[in-house]
Amino acid sequence: MSSRIVVLISGGGTNLQAIIDACKSPEYLGEVVGVISNKADAYGLTRAQNADIPVSTLSHKDFDSREAYDLSLIDTIDQYKPDVVVLAGFMRILTPAFVQHYLGRLLNIHPSLLPKYQGLNTHQRAIDAGDKEHGVSVHFVTEELDGGPVILQAKVPVFEQDTADDLAIRVHQQEHRIYPLVVKWLCQGRLSMRNEQAILDEHVLPQSGYASEE
Ligand code: GAR
Repeated sequence: MSSRIVVLISGGGTNLQAIIDACKSPEYLGEVVGVISNKADAYGLTRAQNADIPVSTLSHKDFDSREAYDLSLIDTIDQYKPDVVVLAGFMRILTPAFVQHYLGRLLNIHPSLLPKYQGLNTHQRAIDAGDKEHGVSVHFVTEELDGGPVILQAKVPVFEQDTADDLAIRVHQQEHRIYPLVVKWLCQGRLSMRNEQAILDEHVLPQSGYASEE
């Protein structure tokens, strides 16, 4: 049985594209059945339409509170009857009610080696700190912003002359490799979250996820 995937975006949707492309493989056991954006001009919506995937736009500007927006977002998502909900550049802080509703089937990708650099401007912060390596993390979403258990990370080098844009490009390339893989694990039933720990094939993953060097 193929898992139903709903992807939430706010922007370009290159991670969405990587997941759509990966789903074409029969062994993936997942299908993107809906894409939702909080921004009507997000290019990711065009990507979804090009792939004949239904889209919805729900602007946060039409709501008085974060709570009201998230309740309406739950309604919109649940119309697609998802098994898996994927945040792919969805630039919103989520309410506890939202997180609890999808706990264990809600994934996020964050452009840093978590727990480093939660929040915004991660590439510039890595440069400013003089880091020699930077990267990206895929994690289960919990109520703590960018704080849920890490499933998989990928590292990239930071070179001396790098700008934040250079790093963003390098990190994006890794995002497109690891996010479809983790979504696949969840679709295949190999991945779960228990007691705020990520579990793959019945093994509790270390703090830095599957590819950890610990
Ligand atoms: C990605 O780099 C993702 O890691 C980041 O937004 C970008 C979306 O790119 N997410 C966050 O910063 C979440 N805190 P995309 O629209 O091309 O997939």
